Amino acid sequence: MRILVVGSGGREHAICYTLRAAENPPEVFVAPGNAGTAAIAHNIDIEATDISGLLTFVEEMSVDLTIVGPEQPLVLGLADALRSRGFAVVGPSAAAAQLEGSKVFAKDFMKRNAIPTAIYRSFTSHELDAAVSFIRALGAPVVVKASGLAAGKGAIVCDTTDEAEETARMMLVDDRFGEAGREIVVEEFMRGEEASVFALCDGSSYVLLSPAQDHKRVGDSDTGPNTGGMGAYAPAPVVDAALLARVEVEIIRPTVSGLANEGIPYNGFLYVGLMIEDGNPRVVEYNCRLGDPEAQVLLPLLNEDFRNLMQATASGSLKEKGPISLRPDSAACVVLCSGGYPGPYAMGFPISGLEEAAQVDGAQVFHAGTSVADDRVVTSGGRVLGVTATGDSLEQALARAYSAAGKISFEGMFFRHDIGRKGLERLLPA
Ligand code: AMP
Ligand code: GLY
Repeated sequence: MRILVVGSGGREHAICYTLRAAENPPEVFVAPGNAGTAAIAHNIDIEATDISGLLTFVEEMSVDLTIVGPEQPLVLGLADALRSRGFAVVGPSAAAAQLEGSKVFAKDFMKRNAIPTAIYRSFTSHELDAAVSFIRALGAPVVVKASGLAAGKGAIVCDTTDEAEETARMMLVDDRFGEAGREIVVEEFMRGEEASVFALCDGSSYVLLSPAQDHKRVGDSDTGPNTGGMGAYAPAPVVDAALLARVEVEIIRPTVSGLANEGIPYNGFLYVGLMIEDGNPRVVEYNCRLGDPEAQVLLPLLNEDFRNLMQATASGSLKEKGPISLRPDSAACVVLCSGGYPGPYAMGFPISGLEEAAQVDGAQVFHAGTSVADDRVVTSGGRVLGVTATGDSLEQALARAYSAAGKISFEGMFFRHDIGRKGLERLLPA
């Protein structure tokens, strides 16, 4: 069996690793992949956004199943192109991927379906005055978001209404966010603790994975600018069983059935970013894919044959497969970054200690921004490695991940030292 994985991050390495760890592993191709995927699968030189290149590859190689990692190819219609030609794929249609690709679509969808989220209004380029009035009516802090895809940089939390007005002007009038910012969402600032819940959907049914928590800010104690994610752990105790049950009834179920009722059934991983305030969950955002680094802690907790799970998702038969089985363990991931990230950084530095790190009990190093030069693994991105470990408690998983991270070095390397702290505090006896 041949599987194509689309993408090149830690998420895609984790997907390849999980597929290849099975007893009878499939042949796995990755487009374009990284140094980690090259060691366990075939990297192919096609960009994740090259829809026609990917389509030709799938046709020529008779690929049996395609798993799409990142959002751009989904928003560009890769899943539709494959499905309409009869190829099996895990990933939503372009229409359903609007949940991530258009914040205006996502907010309007939540309103239509009574899914709890922040109060908002949307505005187009010639509606700056109306946006300013709404910003003043909401008061600070207030959030201004470019509606389109902006590589995680399109949501600006503004501490003053002046800053919010300026941000709205930059997006709508000055075109500083390009096409993505020609329509904006202005919304109420939500207080509370963030967590994410993931569902794997096959168009009509779904299964839930472990709730997880990411660490978006670059610095310890959630300081500094936003990043793609500096580390994650799962399960996240802030979403206990009772809260997860509420999230399922109030958010996941109406999302999946709402999309199906609107004629755009959702197939693939659905990522729901939540804000939890006084025990009440509201949606911050939807993503139409697995999170990264969240995938790196979710996949090791699956007690399932991942290939079967992916095939059942693609063929719409998750229900027949029955409930998903998760290991009763914890997983933690610490992301090792290039000095300067999320700003500009240098690349091409050799990485040492990868083998030593992999010797740590329960540890697995997932590659993100890495490539091979002169037979050495070198840095080639901002987020370089996701050092992941499982353990029978969150404490053990974190200790193992940090122990493995300590074996690795490259010039300029840095990481957060407080991954999982909120989870540990919550688990302390009262
Ligand atoms: P988004 O691009 O919508 O995922 O937003 C990025 C980050 O901005 C989120 O993970 C939150 O930390 C923050 N954020 C977005 N919207 C809100 C909101 N309404 N209230 C508070 N924080 C928000
Ligand atoms: N870790 C956040 C994301 O994947 O969007």
